[in-house]
Amino acid sequence: MDTRNKDFPETQLAEAARVDTPATNRSAWDELFTDSSPEMRPPIARAIARAIARDPIDPSHALEVAIRAAKDAGAILREMLPIAVVREKSPKDLVTDADVAAQQAILNVVAQHYPEHRFLGEEDSLEANAKNELSSSRWQWVVDPLDGTTNFAHGLRNFSVSIALMHPFGDPSENGYLASRCGLGVVYDPMADEMFAAIAGRGASLNGVPIACSRCERLNKALIAASFPPQLHRDSREIQQFVEILLESQSVRRLGSAALNLCYVGAGRLDGYWGGRLKAWDIAAGALIATEAGSHLSLHHGEPFDPWNGQILAAATPALQRELIDCLAKSPNTLADH
Ligand code: IPD
Ligand code: CA
Ligand code: CA
Repeated sequence: MDTRNKDFPETQLAEAARVDTPATNRSAWDELFTDSSPEMRPPIARAIARAIARDPIDPSHALEVAIRAAKDAGAILREMLPIAVVREKSPKDLVTDADVAAQQAILNVVAQHYPEHRFLGEEDSLEANAKNELSSSRWQWVVDPLDGTTNFAHGLRNFSVSIALMHPFGDPSENGYLASRCGLGVVYDPMADEMFAAIAGRGASLNGVPIACSRCERLNKALIAASFPPQLHRDSREIQQFVEILLESQSVRRLGSAALNLCYVGAGRLDGYWGGRLKAWDIAAGALIATEAGSHLSLHHGEPFDPWNGQILAAATPALQRELIDCLAKSPNTLADH
């Protein structure tokens, strides 16, 4: 069922597409690129306006759909935690039947409300990918049904469902800089019943209550989390970075869910986080939540954050971000990076 006509009256459409108006009168989506350079903002704003006019959507409704989908998936994960069947996709890279069941639950909810949207899930089948090619919309749901599968497989309760709604906001072939950004995201911890959510430009919340990151400015006072990929070697750069940050920070945690780490930075439970070799489904939603809560995102050397790059560095303040970038830069590139 296509709900667009009912959900998107003309006034909302006009509001969503309004971009050349003063700051007080902007739509939520205008804020998507506040991290861009001033000269890039007008063309980006026009690209967003064109994209939204072509492909109308109500962010509040889409967020409700994302929350519904995350809760359905979370219920499946809770039920299957004691009985899930685990297998290795590749050495040390686990998947369970719960990952697949949770993704199907998310797809069911999304397809019911937005059948024309694209869907990219970590556990996608070839059939799902082929369907995307026929899609009339450029909105794309980017989904990790279970972030933290290793924890889940061992009965550790730190894992999450991550759902982002992204859009290219322009033609990526014309301008790679516009390549798909996150418009809204939810990260749900089903064991703690914590729903982190954000719409670009409207702030971030935890169970409906606004959240804000910490004000920590010094690495030696900061609690930092890290994510590591399964394929590490003794001389991997990640190990050297870990040692550097462990020595310079108050302490380092490896909690096991990239998406939750980012939300914890947003909620002020962590002051910073870095990870590499990640996928957009791991970090797109959490990155938006962290940004909307006031934290500062970049790649490891300070380049602008790109959810499709694989690297991420999140910090509560610019001063802490600078210290983290400098600390990561102490580790030279090694062959084992790639
Ligand atoms: C993993 C988690 C983990 C990170 C890995 C990811 P998965 O996702 O986010 O924290 O270190 O790189 O692959 O496999 O549990 O969905
Ligand atoms: Ca993941
Ligand atoms: Ca996963």
